[in-house]
Parts: sequence; C-alpha cells; structure tokens
Amino acid sequence: MSTPPSARLEALRLHGAIPRHIAIIMDGNGRWARERGLARPAGHQAGARAVREAVEGALHAGVEVLTLFAFSHENWQRPQAEIDALMALLEEYIAKEAAELRREGVTVRMLGDLDRLAPSAREAVDRIEAHTAGGARLALNICLSYGARAEIVRAARRLAERVRDGALDLDAVTEANFATELYTAAWPDPDLLVRTSGEMRLSNFLLWQVAYAELHVTPVLWPDFGREDLYEAILDFQGRDRRFGRVTA
Ligand code: IPE
Ligand code: IPE
Ligand code: MG
Repeated sequence: MSTPPSARLEALRLHGAIPRHIAIIMDGNGRWARERGLARPAGHQAGARAVREAVEGALHAGVEVLTLFAFSHENWQRPQAEIDALMALLEEYIAKEAAELRREGVTVRMLGDLDRLAPSAREAVDRIEAHTAGGARLALNICLSYGARAEIVRAARRLAERVRDGALDLDAVTEANFATELYTAAWPDPDLLVRTSGEMRLSNFLLWQVAYAELHVTPVLWPDFGREDLYEAILDFQGRDRRFGRVTA
C-alpha cells in the first residue's frame, strides 16, 4: 500500500466515476507459460501474483467490488494434474494472503459450486471467508467451480421452491427477486468487465449480471496484468457513453 499513486491513477481520479464493481476473466496463464517454455502450472503460479496486483489496484482506485473468474465449471474437464496444481495454488494463496487481505479491509467470498472442491480446498475457502468477514473497503469475490448457466438454473430452482412452498407469489417472480437468488445478490452488477489475453468471449461468466457492463478486452496475458492495466481499463470505461437503452441528452 506504499506505492506512490501513478499518473494513470491520478488521471482516473480526476476524470470521472470509478466503476463500483469490476469483474475480470483472468485468462492467458497457459500461453504465458508456453511463451517461456514452462509447464502450464507455472503460468497459474504467476497468475496468482497478478491477483495481488489487481486487488491492490482496486483498493487504490476505490473500487467497491472486484469479482475474479478463477476456475470455471468447464475447467473441471482439464487434465487432473492441472486441476490439482490449481487447487494447490488456491490453498497456497489463501494461506499466504488471508492475513494481509483482512488487514486491508478486504472481504473475500468464493462463489460457485464449492461442493465439488476437495475437503482441504473447501476448508481453506471456509477459513478465508471467516477470517476476512466484515472487511469494509473491498468485496473480493472469487468465482471458483463457477458457471453462469448453472448459477441461473440454481436461482430458478430456489425461486420455484419458494413458490411451491407458498412463500412467494408467482407474480412476485421479477428480475429483482430472481437476482436475490444469484451468488452475487449482495452486490450491484458489474459496471466493467475485463478479459485478458485478447479472447472476445464470456466463457459462461456472470451472464445475467453483465447485461449492461462495459467490456474491456486487453491482449495482456493475465500473469503480466498489473495495477496499471487495471487503471487503463478504468480510463477506457470512463470514456464510454452508458445509455442503458435510452438516448443521451
Ligand atoms: C486462465 O488461464 C486460468 C484458468 C482458466 C484456470 P488459462 O489456463 O485458460 O490460460 P490459456 O487460456 O490456456 O492461455
Ligand atoms: C475462462 O477461461 C475461465 C477462467 C478464466 C477461469 P478459459 O480459458 O477456461 O475459457 P475458454 O476455454 O478460452 O473459453
Ligand atoms: Mg484460457
């Protein structure tokens, strides 16, 4: 937290509104490793360091919510050795970062089908959530074993149960009520969605929540993504004309 504010950070503070919620698809670890002749897990290791950068950048910029896509529902189809390496890194990240995140006022939540995690990973997740609960500066959501379609179906089932049990009137099945059953119920929708490594797709991430997010795709591979890249994305966001379907005056 002692790095002096950069010129970009100054510019974006002067320039306009800071997005309250930034979501990031952290992509390109494998390509980063391949470019260096390393195995894919080395890319994931470097990617974990970039998470620290993104969190620091979000804290400096005054972002309220940062939601990171760390491991998708579809990523369970990767080779077991890569999955094992990713899960080991998750546990390592939690062991290393929990105390500092708590000190900095970051509340960590893990969003996704956590029942699929191995017991030790699940315990680590519970540990960091308990340890950081109540942090008031930044909500850090890490999407893990996460798929947006699965999240939407889960929400539909939960609403249907409430209707079936007589707890909710069918007329009360509204967009707002639906959103209360999503993992992200506690937070406003992302204002800005960033994807690294140049891929122009959503890969089943936050499909409901990004309905009106501004998109920023950068060719930077995730392990090379630093806080300056986050500021660059925010500056790009500040230049957008958000119309939400209306016309501008
Ligand atoms: C993102 O990097 C991390 C995860 C999806 C877990 P990738 O592992 O997808 O890296 P590329 O896309 O193969 O370069
Ligand atoms: C999306 O990246 C998932 C995460 C960043 C965790 P992928 O690398 O899995 O997505 P695709 O396969 O390129 O769509
Ligand atoms: Mg990828």
